[in-house]
Amino acid sequence: MSSTSTTQIVHPARTLQGSVTLPGDKSISHRYAMLAGIASGTTRLSNFSTGADPHSTLACMEALGATIVHNADKTISVTGTAGQFQQPATPLDCGNSGSTMRMLAGLIAPHPHTFTMIGDHSLTLRPMERIRKPLMQMGAHIDLVNGHAPITIHGSPLHAIDFDTPIPSAQVKTAVLFAGLQANGTTSLTESIRTRDHSEHALRAFGAILNRTDERLSIPGGQKLQAIDATVPGDLSSAAFFLCAALLFPDSNLILDSIGMNPTRASLLDVITSLGGKIKVLNVEEHHGELIGTIQVNGPASGPRGMHIGGALSAQIIDELPVLAAIAPYTINGITIRDARELRVKESDRIALVAKNLKAMGATFTEHEDGLEIPGNQRLHGAQIDSGADHRITMAFAIAALRAEGDTEVHGAEAAAISFPEFFTHLDALCQR
Ligand code: S3P
Repeated sequence: MSSTSTTQIVHPARTLQGSVTLPGDKSISHRYAMLAGIASGTTRLSNFSTGADPHSTLACMEALGATIVHNADKTISVTGTAGQFQQPATPLDCGNSGSTMRMLAGLIAPHPHTFTMIGDHSLTLRPMERIRKPLMQMGAHIDLVNGHAPITIHGSPLHAIDFDTPIPSAQVKTAVLFAGLQANGTTSLTESIRTRDHSEHALRAFGAILNRTDERLSIPGGQKLQAIDATVPGDLSSAAFFLCAALLFPDSNLILDSIGMNPTRASLLDVITSLGGKIKVLNVEEHHGELIGTIQVNGPASGPRGMHIGGALSAQIIDELPVLAAIAPYTINGITIRDARELRVKESDRIALVAKNLKAMGATFTEHEDGLEIPGNQRLHGAQIDSGADHRITMAFAIAALRAEGDTEVHGAEAAAISFPEFFTHLDALCQR
C-alpha cells in the first residue's frame, strides 16, 4: 500500500437508499488463491476480492511458481504448481495480511525450500507464535523474531498431530489443515469455539477429503488437489458497514447483492436484527458449499436498539465489532462488547483505536481490556479520525460520521483498500444528503 496519507471528508447523511454489489469475500479469496496455487490445472475465479490483502496472496502464489492471469472479463486464472512449490527468488511479501502469513505458513512448511515471509509494520507487530506452535509439533522448522515476523521456514516433511486450538482462530485452524493435507497420517483438530469454515468448504471443493464429527475435524495427509471454476461470494464483512449505516436511518432501504451467507459468518445478520434492522433474504444459492444470497435491509422506525455482545458471538463477528462500536452511541440502550481481547492484536489495537476515535467525536464510554461499554442516546460531532492505517477503523468511523453533527475528516482513508477499495464510492452513491 502507498505510504501517502489520504484524508476523506464524510458529510452527515439524511438516509441511505439503493443497491450495491460487493467485491468478493476476502477470506474465501485468500483460500481459493492458495489452494489453486497448489492444485493441478487452471482454476478460474470470478468476483475475486479487489482488496489489497488477497492480491498479496496472489503475488505470493506467483512467487511460489503459480501462474496468475487477470482476464479481460475480470476473472482471474491461477495455474497451480501440482503440489510442487518452487524456491521463491525473494521473500514472500504478505503486506498487511495476517491471513496470508498465517495460512500460507501451513501450506509451504512441508516443501523442501527455505522461505522468508515478511509484512508491513502492522503485520510485523502481530502474534505469530500461534501458528509456529502447532506447525512445530508437526515437525516444521520455523524461526520468528520475538514471536513476530519476519518468519523463516526451513521446509521439511511433516507428520500428523492431534491439535486442540487454544484460541478461536480460523487462520490457525487453516494453517494446521493446509499442513495436515500434506503430512504423513491423519491430522485432527478440535475447536472450542467454532470459527469460520471457509477452509473446510474450499478444501472439499478442490477435491480433498475432510471429516467432521461434532467439534473434531480430521484431514488425511498426502492428498492432491484439482483446479476448479468458482465464484467468490460478496464480502459480508464489507456489507456490514452498509448494514450498520442502514440501522441509523428509519427510512433507509438497501439491497446488497450476492452476499456470502455462510452460517459461520452470518450471526452478524442476527445482530443487525436484534438491533432493530429489518432484513429480508431474497434468494439463496450454494456454490462449492458457500451460501450466497441477496439481502434487503431497512432501518428501525424508532431507532436502533442496544445489546450485549460477548462469548462465542464476539469471536464469530470479530471483524464487524469496530463498526458496531462506532454506531453504538446512536443506539437507544447502548452496546457492550466483551470477550473480544483478540481485537487488540488485529491490524491495529482496535479497542484502543475505536476508543480514541469515539472520544474525538465526543462520545462517553468505558474501555475494558477485552472490549468496550458504550451507552446509547448520545449525540456525536464531526471530528478528526485517525484510521491507524487500519481498513476496518477507517470504514467504521466513516459510518459513524453519517449521523454526526458537522463534517468528519478520516485521515489515512486509503487503508480501506486493504479489503474494500470501492467503499467510499459506494458510500457516496448510497447516501442521500
Ligand atoms: C480470518 C479470520 C479472522 C479474521 C480475519 C480473517 C480468516 O482472524 O479476523 O480478518 O480469513 O480466516 P483470526 O483467525 O485471527 O481469528
